[in-house]
Amino acid sequence: MSDFLKLPRWFDLHTHFRQGENVAAYIADHVAMGCAGALAMPNTQPPVSRIEGGLANDGWSIEGYRKTLNDAGATAFEKLIVPLYLTRETTADDIERGAKSGLLQACKYYPPHGTTNSEHGVPVEEWIGHDVLRAMEANDVMLCLHGEQHGLAGAEYFDAKATAESKFYAEWMPRLLEAHPNLKLVCEHITTKAAADFVTTAPSERVGATITPQHLLYTVGHLIQGLKYHLYCLPIVKFESDRDALRDTVLQAGQTQFFAGTDSAPHTTKATECGCAAGCYTGGCAPQLYAMAFEEAGADLFSEAGKAAFKRFLCTNGPAFYGFDASAETFTMSKTPSTTRTLAAEDGTVIPLPTGMDLELTWSLSV
Ligand code: DOR
Ligand code: ZN
Repeated sequence: MSDFLKLPRWFDLHTHFRQGENVAAYIADHVAMGCAGALAMPNTQPPVSRIEGGLANDGWSIEGYRKTLNDAGATAFEKLIVPLYLTRETTADDIERGAKSGLLQACKYYPPHGTTNSEHGVPVEEWIGHDVLRAMEANDVMLCLHGEQHGLAGAEYFDAKATAESKFYAEWMPRLLEAHPNLKLVCEHITTKAAADFVTTAPSERVGATITPQHLLYTVGHLIQGLKYHLYCLPIVKFESDRDALRDTVLQAGQTQFFAGTDSAPHTTKATECGCAAGCYTGGCAPQLYAMAFEEAGADLFSEAGKAAFKRFLCTNGPAFYGFDASAETFTMSKTPSTTRTLAAEDGTVIPLPTGMDLELTWSLSV
């Protein structure tokens, strides 16, 4: 039996490359892990909230941000998607113009004040029935959702019975699907059984979901035992029953709805006196972490079924759901240990999740 896996280069359909001097290092880490393409999140400062034109006080444009990423090395990717950050300024005309020009493939919903740089988000209830979403339906533009109920505090935000995420999926997602029958959605970085069940029972051609390595590997117990702030991300890691549900979905033979989206989020200052920045950095090590998670879920990646499930999740389901080709290039993963390194960025150090969690990688990559 061989101890390596040859796979098509994979796609990270949810990641953060930020802005400024460090972008090139973040992109290089992605290219070095066999990543063929990325969906680069628009929660920059200011946000990516316009279609075309230069950087202005109120926002980047998709055109301008794409150029910044390409100048920093993203031309090595086969695919680069920059979604439009939905704000109060977004119009139906933006959507139509953006789609027609080819610059716009997806929009991003952020719950206001729900996570890093999400203060420009507009509450989900205001989008339901909105002509911006109607224009997205008419122009085949995907809606990427950070699915958490906004504005909840304390016990309402996180409880064993219900969390901001499970509330969002119970309350808003059915209404969104019903009000916009032609809208395609990606439920991003899902963390709960409630979200996994919602996606599984929704029409498979309309609703997909990304899952991060950390949500397949860890639970809230890992986070709070010793307060491991490198594992702090939003939505927060949940309970074992939630992790089990996520693991079950990715191992379902032939599943087409769940795919890789690391939510890799570099922070050069993570813990401060008044709190902790949300985000786990998995640049350079995401396929290894996903492989370890699949194994913990019970998959033998050297069996036909195990390899097929892994390949679907990492390499082929995402492109198929977004409607572009999987990569014809390959990379190789070997069952030999590897190490992560910290990333010295312009304004500080980015600690990758395994380093922060003292986790040894049992897989390595060659690209
Ligand atoms: O943990 C997170 N980090 N969740 C998000 O939604 C945003 C991200 C970031 O940009 O740092
Ligand atoms: Zn994110």
